[in-house]
Amino acid sequence: MKSVFQLPGPKAKAIIERDRKVISPSYPRDYPFVMDFGKGTEVWDVDGNRFLDFAAGIAVVSTGHSHPKVVKSIQDQAEKFIHISSDYYHQKWVALGEKLNMIAPFQEDALSFMTNSGTESVEAAIKLARHYTGRTQFIGFLGGFHGRTMGSLAFTASKPHYHEGFYPLMNGVTHVPYPDPYRPVLQSLPGEHYGETVIRYIEEQIFAKVLPHRDVAGILVETIQGEGGYVVPAPGFYPALRELCDRYQILLIVDEVQSGMGRTGKWWAIEQFGVEPDIVCVGKGIASGVPLGAIIARKSLMNWTKGAHGNTFGGNPIACAAALATIELIENEYMDNSTEVGEYTLDALHEIKTRHPSIGDVRGMGLMIGVEFVKDRQTREPDDELRDRIIHQAFEGGLLILGCGTSAIRIAPPLNISRTEIDEGLKIFGEAIALAARKQYSAYVT
Ligand SMILES: Cc1ncc(COP(=O)(O)O)c(C=O)c1O
Repeated sequence: MKSVFQLPGPKAKAIIERDRKVISPSYPRDYPFVMDFGKGTEVWDVDGNRFLDFAAGIAVVSTGHSHPKVVKSIQDQAEKFIHISSDYYHQKWVALGEKLNMIAPFQEDALSFMTNSGTESVEAAIKLARHYTGRTQFIGFLGGFHGRTMGSLAFTASKPHYHEGFYPLMNGVTHVPYPDPYRPVLQSLPGEHYGETVIRYIEEQIFAKVLPHRDVAGILVETIQGEGGYVVPAPGFYPALRELCDRYQILLIVDEVQSGMGRTGKWWAIEQFGVEPDIVCVGKGIASGVPLGAIIARKSLMNWTKGAHGNTFGGNPIACAAALATIELIENEYMDNSTEVGEYTLDALHEIKTRHPSIGDVRGMGLMIGVEFVKDRQTREPDDELRDRIIHQAFEGGLLILGCGTSAIRIAPPLNISRTEIDEGLKIFGEAIALAARKQYSAYVT
């Protein structure tokens, strides 16, 4: 595969230069894509180059870029009013609360608190859990990503870099291994599912030796790990986790910021595992790119009183309008598409795996798919260098993808992507793998 573009082009280069002078260097930009406009799964840069977007703004533009129905809902709302603050009421906010109540992954009625981002949703969940239980401690999982503010950051454990230089974080978080079936770190008993092993570890090691279960307010878990590698937990995990939480009156808080809103083919990934959580953290895909998040909690839990928690922008009318349009589109069309095209993509990636020994694992649900690169399939040693080369190569071939975990690539396109677009993108992906592997080999031998 030859590069189709000279990247970055002159206009992109000029903007990146200006950006360097005024924007924080902390943003983790991997390659120089400077967007001009987008439509569905296609995006164009400022030099007129077209790309397929298999990253969707980190799993955010669930209905594709600038879906006409979402755009119209934003325009209509903007003409009426843009903001009134959470000190008042408005219709769209209530309508969104009603909708979230209908799609909440538990039988009990739900109340929602609206936020502006994923991290703010996690912060709200932490506060609600402490407030409701009167307990202070939490359990989080290694490899998890929950955001970068001081509370959520205390849970985030996918890279030490996120913590470096920022201590002290919120205290009260004990980390345990995530039930990663590809890279298990605990020993299972005969006949025990690895998901159950992790729960046994919490009881036999953590509760028995270091953390009194009576002090634990909640267990916060990404239903499917996102930033940490698009890891689907091992069998047996969620039923055992729910049972553990019930036994010790601990709240089960699922972070569905990345895995929710239809991405896996159900509203919430936790529904794939037949378990009801107590609090759901929402963000990213809920409003097709307009900043909005929420926590959805069982009504009986959300007993905090006036002023206990709030924010200025919560329930912003434009964000609520975009969310209502997004939810309607997902409900009517795109959730099924996510399941169907997701299965098609997984099959295609398994086929690509047969041709590329560097692919150690392909996993996922719906359109939340991870491909992990290794130096050797036997040892499973991560090949992060190859993964990074592939991402750059794909970019030069006209495909936007993002990394995750130590050596994985995430496939998280808009939920309305077509099979034809998947075929086109995976062709570029396959060629990028071959070319990156060749370049890596020549770099070693020369
Ligand atoms: C699972 C999960 N939780 C929380 C967050 C934080 O969301 P935000 O970046 O909107 O604060 C992210 C972001 O990637 C995420 O993937």
